[in-house]
Amino acid sequence: MDDMTLIPEHATTQGTLPRRTFAIISHPDAGKTTLTEKLLLFGGAIHEAGMVKARRERRNTRSDWMAIERQRGISVTSSVMTFTWHDVVFNLLDTPGHQDFSEDTYRTLTAVDAAVMVIDAARGIEAQTLKLFEVCRLRDIPIITFINKIDREGQDPFTLLDEIASTLALDVCPMVWPIGMGGLFRGCWNIAEHRPIGRVSPEGEVFAPVTVPPEQMAEVQDAIELTGAYPAFDETAFRAGHLTPVLFGSALKDYGVVELLAMLSQFAPAPTTQRAEPHPVAASDPSVTGFVFKVQANMDPNHRDRIAFTRICSGRFQRGMKLFHVRAGKTMAIQAPIFFFARDRSLAEEAWPGDIIGIPNHGSLRVGDTLTEGEPLRFTGIPSFAPEILRRIILADPMRAKQLRRALEDLAEEGVAQIFRPMLGADWIVGVVGALQLDVLAARIDTEYKIPIRFEASPYTTARWITSTDPKRLKDFIDANQSTMGLDRDDSPVFLARDTWSLRYAQERAPEIHFSATHETS
Ligand code: G4P
Repeated sequence: MDDMTLIPEHATTQGTLPRRTFAIISHPDAGKTTLTEKLLLFGGAIHEAGMVKARRERRNTRSDWMAIERQRGISVTSSVMTFTWHDVVFNLLDTPGHQDFSEDTYRTLTAVDAAVMVIDAARGIEAQTLKLFEVCRLRDIPIITFINKIDREGQDPFTLLDEIASTLALDVCPMVWPIGMGGLFRGCWNIAEHRPIGRVSPEGEVFAPVTVPPEQMAEVQDAIELTGAYPAFDETAFRAGHLTPVLFGSALKDYGVVELLAMLSQFAPAPTTQRAEPHPVAASDPSVTGFVFKVQANMDPNHRDRIAFTRICSGRFQRGMKLFHVRAGKTMAIQAPIFFFARDRSLAEEAWPGDIIGIPNHGSLRVGDTLTEGEPLRFTGIPSFAPEILRRIILADPMRAKQLRRALEDLAEEGVAQIFRPMLGADWIVGVVGALQLDVLAARIDTEYKIPIRFEASPYTTARWITSTDPKRLKDFIDANQSTMGLDRDDSPVFLARDTWSLRYAQERAPEIHFSATHETS
């Protein structure tokens, strides 16, 4: 591995500090990069603005295969960002957006205990925020809402709150209120503490709150009084994912960022109990357990190593430990685990529940795998998600069908794409949630397996896993819908829908069949 650095000094003493493992969910351009950067600046993990942004720009200029490769290298170091603020260790997991949107984006949310939802004050809730929110809801992940860009003209704060409440079916509890927006923006008001909030720079410089003209302050006070109509902050409801505290702020101008950090420290859950079979695993369990939520391949075909991003769920992990790889039934010594800091990575000497370590391996670790100190446990709730882009794979040389099958199965297990075999017809269908995944898939089949392929439009736009408590009804449904049925890599039946209308039609006609947009691999 290149650019290994020494572990920052504080990292070796931070074992006993509380952990907050979280992700930021948002629609492109809402301000995730800016907010991430500010959090890292406040945490002292970077010292100049523009680092995260430079990455984004490099990514945007990417156009060819080499650039994908470069981007993958870059994103390895930035997919987990660890920083410390007021004696709390924050692990911020990146949920790639834009053209990088993929199943990894969704799966990352299975490894966090809380999420920050960033919304653009002018745009309100947008498509990608909604999608990511739905994944959070699957696991009842507590969400803090940050309504960004209030230094610009935005929608009325009450309209925004009501939109969140009705679109997401969530209780909203405003905590930090804007004093004006756009041209009238003067700062923020801390509702619980009845005081204005001045700007605090990432360097810790505290600026006095700006004086607000009395008429404007009177208006703000009236509005704040009206916020009394919303439910009061209730930690239990927040932890259960039913209520979201809302902060209005400006990531760019440093308003609301300190309050966000304080709220994460105070209310976001410490590493929580994880679902597993045969029993759940509490973070306080003494023996080490963890699960893999993402695998990243080195795109250089000469280095076929992979990094398995592993969330430690319990125990105190130490470098060199031998861990039991439950699916494979084998023990593996974890000699060179990696920790991720803002832009660097280092050897992880020890890691605690909530921490993410990268485990280099040669393909033995896959998404969803469990590691323990010997117990045959299995973490659950790391699903596959219904693809949103489906393509037919066309093989240039029909003689290579067998090799193609192996390549597709390998890459599907790694989580690069999903594969479906239609019940009628011979061509494979691949499914992805983001277009970049298709480029990566084609490039890897070409460079690693030397099988030239191309994609063709498929008649399908989405897929649903189908089940029923009545096996006969399930079989009847499959028989009656053969032309739109396929099997996934576990041979689970999948309904391939031509459009949302035909999906709804099939659902209405077969109420005894359960159509699911997620599927957990056994
Ligand atoms: P993203 O990662 O969610 O895609 O968003 P990003 O942070 O890159 O922000 C998108 C644009 O919004 C950027 O402008 C950024 O500067 C701006 N922005 C982010 N937070 C705020 C805020 O609190 N207030 C205001 N006024 N703008 C904000 P850009 O034009 O793309 O880049 P730049 O060249 O202006 O930096």
